[in-house]
Amino acid sequence: MASLNGVGHSTQELLDAQAHVWNHIFNFINFMSLKCAVQLGIPDIIQKHGKPMMLSQLVDALPINKAKACFVYRLMHILIHSKFFVNVKISDNDNENEGYWLTPASHLLLKDKRMSMVPFALAMLDPILIDPLHHVSEWFQNESPSPFVAKHGMSIWEYMGIEQKFNQLFNEAMASDAWFLSTIARKECKQLFEGLKSMVDVGGGTGMVAKAIANAFPGLQCTVLELPRVVVGLEGTENLTCIGGDMFDFIPPADAVFLKFFFDMLMMVNVVAKERTEEEWAKLFFAAGFTSYKINKLFGLRSVIEVFP
Ligand SMILES: C[S@@+](CC[C@H](N)C(=O)[O-])C[C@H]1O[C@@H](n2cnc3c(N)ncnc32)[C@H](O)[C@@H]1O
Repeated sequence: MASLNGVGHSTQELLDAQAHVWNHIFNFINFMSLKCAVQLGIPDIIQKHGKPMMLSQLVDALPINKAKACFVYRLMHILIHSKFFVNVKISDNDNENEGYWLTPASHLLLKDKRMSMVPFALAMLDPILIDPLHHVSEWFQNESPSPFVAKHGMSIWEYMGIEQKFNQLFNEAMASDAWFLSTIARKECKQLFEGLKSMVDVGGGTGMVAKAIANAFPGLQCTVLELPRVVVGLEGTENLTCIGGDMFDFIPPADAVFLKFFFDMLMMVNVVAKERTEEEWAKLFFAAGFTSYKINKLFGLRSVIEVFP
């Protein structure tokens, strides 16, 4: 029995505790390996091969310095562990071999697919969004409104007004997530839009969700309200209008207001915002004059909340 703070622990408990701490310290290896796989286009290369791909074939196809070929299996090893690829047996002219193949998760990391999460992964794992996380403790102690401001000296929205490359990457990331969600919404949430005559997507990015909903429900007038630089050049359709403006100044009236948020810690670090618990949402809805709400668990980790007058 060893002692931590005077409390007795078995050797197994100590080893489990150390493994727990290590798991958290080294978590970054998982997401950085994923980023590397996406940047090198490994899912696309394997998909293009059309069948399980042997290590030697993968190495040949990868856009890498071939002197680094001997390291590829180590990257693949961790990506198999994190379920982005599987190793499958291949029988080839009486030889038994192993080859890498895709999993459902890596199918979402194919670049040219409409449901691709590649822009989302690359934006979220960009140093511009990761670096502020190094400043969280400093931000707790200083006057800065967010760790993003502590790191970059301005809000994320101001930053994107200046850094065009990141602005584009971020907008593409939001659009890809929006496409993913609206594809599911059109299938699973028809009843939520039926009976509505107008809807406004507040902070609706480049209008991906609103466009998909407008196309699926031609009788519904959709509006995207966004910062002017995001909607500049975006074309509307018969039932879609894009308005440049500030949601804190004006939200166009509509039967339904569409808002999409996620990830409390990211909100805190990057945009001076927060996720709400059900209790907090309820308080907000009732304070705004709504009489009831319904949480529809339709999107895996995310839900649709309907509020009623
Ligand atoms: C996290 S993104 C979400 C985009 C989109 N709703 C989606 O889920 O794909 C937040 C969006 O809010 C916009 N935004 C930020 N501040 C805003 C404001 N004051 N008025 C209108 N839009 C704003 C940003 O430009 C950005 O596109």
